[in-house]
Amino acid sequence: LIHSSALQTLETTDLAGLRDLHQEILGKKGRLTETLKSLKDLSVDEKREIGSLANRYREELETRFRERQSELERKAEADRLSTEHFDALRPVARSHGHMHPMSRIQYEVEDLFLQMGFRLMDGPEVETDENNFGNLNFSDDHPARDMQDTFWTEEGFLLRTHTSSVQVRAMQSLKPPFRIVAPGRVYRYEETDASHENTFYQCEGMMVDRNISTAHLIHVMKTFLSAFFEREVTVRLRPGYFPFVEPGFELDIRCLICGGDGCPVCKHSGWVELLPCGLVHPNVLRAGGIDPEEWSGFAFGMGLSRLVMMRHEIEDIRHFLSGNLRFLQQFSG
Ligand code: PHE
Repeated sequence: LIHSSALQTLETTDLAGLRDLHQEILGKKGRLTETLKSLKDLSVDEKREIGSLANRYREELETRFRERQSELERKAEADRLSTEHFDALRPVARSHGHMHPMSRIQYEVEDLFLQMGFRLMDGPEVETDENNFGNLNFSDDHPARDMQDTFWTEEGFLLRTHTSSVQVRAMQSLKPPFRIVAPGRVYRYEETDASHENTFYQCEGMMVDRNISTAHLIHVMKTFLSAFFEREVTVRLRPGYFPFVEPGFELDIRCLICGGDGCPVCKHSGWVELLPCGLVHPNVLRAGGIDPEEWSGFAFGMGLSRLVMMRHEIEDIRHFLSGNLRFLQQFSG
């Protein structure tokens, strides 16, 4: 009885029905299983005869179930493949990435300085007090330390507040004469607004050679800036204070928007403050193991974030690290 009705259902059911049927007949409490259990009441001879018959029957039934199951699975797979379709030529939603505007400017700046014989240097973002301050002529109680509010780690390290820390590393690892540029990320513990961010980008430059003067500094900056802005740039120096340069300057360029006549970008002054720089302080050279009687140098600290903002007329520095795709996708071209 089990046999004929089971085989009939086997041929007509679907996968779910097949599972139920298997449970109903061959499961723990299945009909056949129960029947096999009841054999224990028979005599030894009957048990042997009927038992082996019943076992063969169970095996046969299991085989039929397996065959039917794979048949149904193959059919389901074939149905899926014949209805599902994949169009390899259908245009996709735009999802490819592109370089961040900051990286793009960084590589451009690097290239221009490499052409002028500078080499690239790198330094860690977690620094020692000596590399960020001490060896740059900030004494322990120097008020200029307050110029750069600092993130400290519990272990007494700091997040570098400027790329000038790489000046120290350059003097330790290179013999003069040398010229280096060191682009990278820097940190300040301060309130953020449209022109201040706690994380931003600078590019340090340092050249050490014999008889380096302010004239070399001006020439290199003018050459770089004219190439970068793709037009002749006029520069001027104003005095500026940083403990690691003497004399120290703020370098301004004649406003590229109005040409010096006055406009909102230069706040009607005709000049735009661009980067601090100066001649390397003798104490800094000495701390770097370089004799200031024999060698001199200049250094500058360019705000890369600032350059990108000028080039693309970006009004708020906080856009850069916002992760806002609508901001970033403007620079995909
Ligand atoms: N490190 C200074 C700053 O971040 C900039 C600077 C660099 C000034 C090199 C002079 C020379 O403000």
